[in-house]
Formats: sequence, C-alpha cells, structure tokens
Amino acid sequence: MSSTVYLNGEFVPYERALISVEDRAFLFADGIYEVVRVYGGRPFDLEPHLARLSRSAGELRLPEPDGEHLAAVTRELIRRNGLDEGTVYFQITRGVHAPRAHAFPTGTAAPTVVVLTHPLSPEALAAGEQHRREGVAAITVPEQRWARCDIKSVSLLPNVLAKQQAVERGAYEALFVRDGFVIEGSSSNLFAVLDGEVVTYPACNYILNGIARQRVIRNARELGYTVREQGIPLGALDRCQELFLTSTTSEVMPIVAVDGKPVGSGAVGPVARALQAAYRDAVRALR
Ligand code: PDD
Repeated sequence: MSSTVYLNGEFVPYERALISVEDRAFLFADGIYEVVRVYGGRPFDLEPHLARLSRSAGELRLPEPDGEHLAAVTRELIRRNGLDEGTVYFQITRGVHAPRAHAFPTGTAAPTVVVLTHPLSPEALAAGEQHRREGVAAITVPEQRWARCDIKSVSLLPNVLAKQQAVERGAYEALFVRDGFVIEGSSSNLFAVLDGEVVTYPACNYILNGIARQRVIRNARELGYTVREQGIPLGALDRCQELFLTSTTSEVMPIVAVDGKPVGSGAVGPVARALQAAYRDAVRALR
C-alpha cells in the first residue's frame, strides 16, 4: 500500500485518505478511473491514459480534469512513495451529496479526486513474466455489461463476477461473448491471429479502447502484420493460430487454452512473441 495518497488537492497519509459514505461512487458507482503502469519509477503512456480519463469525464458530464496537474501529482506520488515497479490509480467521482438522490447534485458539490500508487512485489512481477512466457488459460462468459463499455467507469460488477468465475475455473481471464463474437476480457482487450492476420474488436461502445491495445495495433502494423478491427466469431476460436490479451498490467499476454481447448498448437505463437518484444522495447525506451 502507498504511504501517501493524493485526495482532493492534498497529499495525505494513506490512513487519512478517507472518503465519505455519501460519495456518489460509493452509492451509485458514479465515477471513472484509470490505471497506469510504472516501470523503473517512470509512468508508461501517462498522456494517453490522462486523455482517456478526460474523455470518460466528458461522457459522464464531470468537470474536465486538469491533465497537467494530474501528471505532476503522478510524478510527485511516485517520488514520495519511492515507487519503482507498480501502478498509479486515478479515480474521479461526482463527489459527496446528501440526501441520496439519483440526479446530479445541484450547486457546489465538488468531484472527489483520488490518486494512489501500488507497488508490484517481486513475486507478482515474476508471476507476470512466467504467464507471458508460458501463456494462460481463459474462459468465455456471456456479456452482461451495459452498452457504454468505452467509458472507464468504476461500475465494474459484471467484470468482477466474470473474473471471479475465471479464477474459480483456474483461468486467468474471462472473455465476454456478445452476439456470437468474443469481444474483450473482463479487464483486458483481445486479439486473435486468424488466417495470418491480426484481428481485434473495433473500438466502439462495446469495449474499452485499451491504451495497450492501441500501442499493440501500432506495433503490429509497424512489424508488417495486417490488423483488422473486426469481431472474432466464437465459432472461429478453434481455427485461430493465436490468441492474446493486452492491458496496462498484463502487457501482451498469450492465451493458450479457451474453455479447456488448446488455441492453435497450444503453445505461445510467433506473433505474440514479436508483439511482446516490441512492447518491451517501448518500456526500455522509457529509461
Ligand atoms: N483494465 N478492457 C477492459 C474492460 C479493461 O478494464 C481494461 C483495463 C482494458 C485494457 O485497457 P488498458 O490497455 O488501457 O489497460 C480493456 C484495467 C487495467 C483495470 O481495470 O485494472
């Protein structure tokens, strides 16, 4: 846990970073968030994450966050908490308002703004490396989320329930199936290699347009792969050469089995390997 937290304009000790029971994120999940990876004390892709936070705020009609200020807060928290490898978590809510009422508060309610850091333990880092080396298992689950998954909202109950199902079935991720297409994971985007082409669901209202997803699409094109932003039919999973996830924390994570059946040869494939290497090159370029 971090020793210093940024809360509503102040740096406070973790123990004193307390939120009201009438905060609208607690009552209504009326808030947005971002997760940024820190490598060697440096935030990775901070700018696009803050740009997405700003977009999410606009979609919820929250006041526009001050990106420059949040970037400065991020660097200060990393410094104060001596964060080397870990994550920075941002959350903005519609603030505190009593008595409870669904409609937006009128008047002066200010948003709640929280930034905190979490270190990644050497064990967690090693487990991530092993998963990326060997590949992981996934399960498919029916889509149960709303139709604005492009907003990074803290309303994550279907994601939580899906991930728990994955964990209970010994899998790393649950993949949502909507209208016969496997669209994304509970906290990650999905890519397939189908007929030699890289395929991923288009950035629309049904998925979160991941920052790692956008970077991996760029990298894949630079490496000469054809990338198609289209749905991966559930029925095509058994003829995919490769399948992999992307996210800020998972990076490029190969999936070697879905619902107990091997993907392709059942081993990590060359496209995932090439994209892992390209992703790591970008991380190394931070230093
Ligand atoms: N999750 N799709 C969903 C539903 C997600 O929650 C996430 C990220 C992604 C990948 O986005 P990005 O590449 O920007 O991390 C896709 C974060 C990491 C989380 O909830 O912890």
